[in-house]
Amino acid sequence: MRLGFASAPLAFAPKKPAKSLSPGNRKATVIAVAAQKGGVGKTTTTVSLGAALARYYDKKVLIIDLDAQSHVELALRDMVNAGAGSLAELLEEPTMMEVGEIAVGTRIPLLDVMPGSQDLSRAENRLSTRIGKELVLRELIDVTRTHYDVILLDCPPNLGNLTLNGLVAADSVLVPCNPALLAVSGVEGLLGAVEQIKKALNPKLDVLGLLLTRVDQRNASTNALIVDMLVENWGELLAPVQISADVGVQKAQIEGVDVHGYDAHGRAATQYCELAEWVLARIA
Ligand SMILES: Nc1ncnc2c1ncn2[C@@H]1O[C@H](COP(=O)(O)OP(=O)(O)O)[C@@H](O)[C@H]1O
Ligand SMILES: [Mg+2]
Repeated sequence: MRLGFASAPLAFAPKKPAKSLSPGNRKATVIAVAAQKGGVGKTTTTVSLGAALARYYDKKVLIIDLDAQSHVELALRDMVNAGAGSLAELLEEPTMMEVGEIAVGTRIPLLDVMPGSQDLSRAENRLSTRIGKELVLRELIDVTRTHYDVILLDCPPNLGNLTLNGLVAADSVLVPCNPALLAVSGVEGLLGAVEQIKKALNPKLDVLGLLLTRVDQRNASTNALIVDMLVENWGELLAPVQISADVGVQKAQIEGVDVHGYDAHGRAATQYCELAEWVLARIA
């Protein structure tokens, strides 16, 4: 008696991937910009560094906003073209498409953006019940990586599932930190998480550096104390470039443009170009 099992279609067969992005010929370095604390300059650094790399160093750059607050798009709202798809949807159905298929261009020719959205919070919650939940973003940029030189991930201010996905998808992590004790204490937590992720999920993850941001030069003695503390604990990781507190950053964000578009010769633009140069030397 034939039971016919062999030819019957499996009702539980996994869905076929429907990705249609064909491979490019680049090989992006993926950099997560992450810190446990909010307000330390993650988004400003992601946007200003990404814009510098695209504008002045001829790099094809993609910025992915992993924060439900969508600050990347807010900061660049006069630059980002309309029409991006939803990253949250991709996180919930990762075989559907690649991030590179739904990211959008900007007025900077070599800079693309995958904006964040409020529904990232819901997607993050749903991720928590998924097997392999830490690996979803890595899968979503598997082919996308071949279309860019650098992919920057703007992470949310916590160590939740989205930051975890960012750190698992990344080659290296850049950790912005303000010259303030509370910000420094957050660095320890983040670096601890990086160590765990290296052991369990992403052995090649490297700490690109700690970046001091919003350094108010008028507070020289407090700044020196914090620098001493950072050097004592993580000396070799402290980036040689510092980003000063500069009202030009806020003015650029109010106008919805990057610091280089706002004032190419301003202090913030110059320092973020120095950072871009340092980053390129580190990832070369
Ligand atoms: N170098 C800077 N000088 C002045 N203000 C800054 C600087 N960097 C960031 N800011 C401001 O600080 C606030 C927090 O920065 P943001 O990049 O959004 O931090 P995060 O992404 O870590 O929450 C924003 O209002 C931003 O305009
Ligand atoms: Mg932010």
